[in-house]
Amino acid sequence: GGLHFERLEKYFGYILRGVYVTLLFTLVSAAFGFVWGAILSLFKLSKVAVLRGFSTVYTSIFRGTPLLLQLALIYYAVPQLTGYNIPPLLAAGLAFGLNSAAYLSETIRGGILAVDKGQREAALSLGIPYRTMMFSIIMPQAVKNILPALVNECVALVKESSLVSVIGVADLMRRATVVQANTFLAFEPLLVVGAIYYVLVLALTSVARLLERRMRRSD
Ligand code: ARG
Repeated sequence: GGLHFERLEKYFGYILRGVYVTLLFTLVSAAFGFVWGAILSLFKLSKVAVLRGFSTVYTSIFRGTPLLLQLALIYYAVPQLTGYNIPPLLAAGLAFGLNSAAYLSETIRGGILAVDKGQREAALSLGIPYRTMMFSIIMPQAVKNILPALVNECVALVKESSLVSVIGVADLMRRATVVQANTFLAFEPLLVVGAIYYVLVLALTSVARLLERRMRRSD
């Protein structure tokens, strides 16, 4: 009976390397999700009906099915359909990026719509091309508007990234199960990685709070 954290001692290095995997994975899929989400948000605001239709259906599907299913689907479908043996980390990054973009496209779209109309009119009357206006004038202000929502998305990604353990990516969660198997301790490894996830999320939100304060001061 009782807790036996001392039996985890020799696994601490192994578990900590999982922090690196989890953070790197989160960063890459957040970046991919943001870029693709920004493009989708422009599709949603486009005058071209096909683009609007595409992005609406896209969001509907990626929000309407479980991320776990999307992950498994990509991991198994790509080799079967193309013959390319997709590495688990790549499949996971793809699934998470595509999924996150669906959520972010809605968030970014809202942020763009919240930017004062005068900005757009001023840019257009100055003869600034649409793309320059969007990416250099409107988007930066939109991102500022939605910063808290973007942080929420990153928090979601950090936690949901634990799903990648099911396809064998050696993230934090996966390492906890490996340590469970090696030590026959069911509980302690989970407590340790649980605490680590929590610290990661706290760190993320405090960085965000700092950023936000600095931005408000620059206004
Ligand atoms: N748990 C959700 C699902 O199974 C994933 C949600 C991802 N959320 C997000 N904001 N990226 O689909």
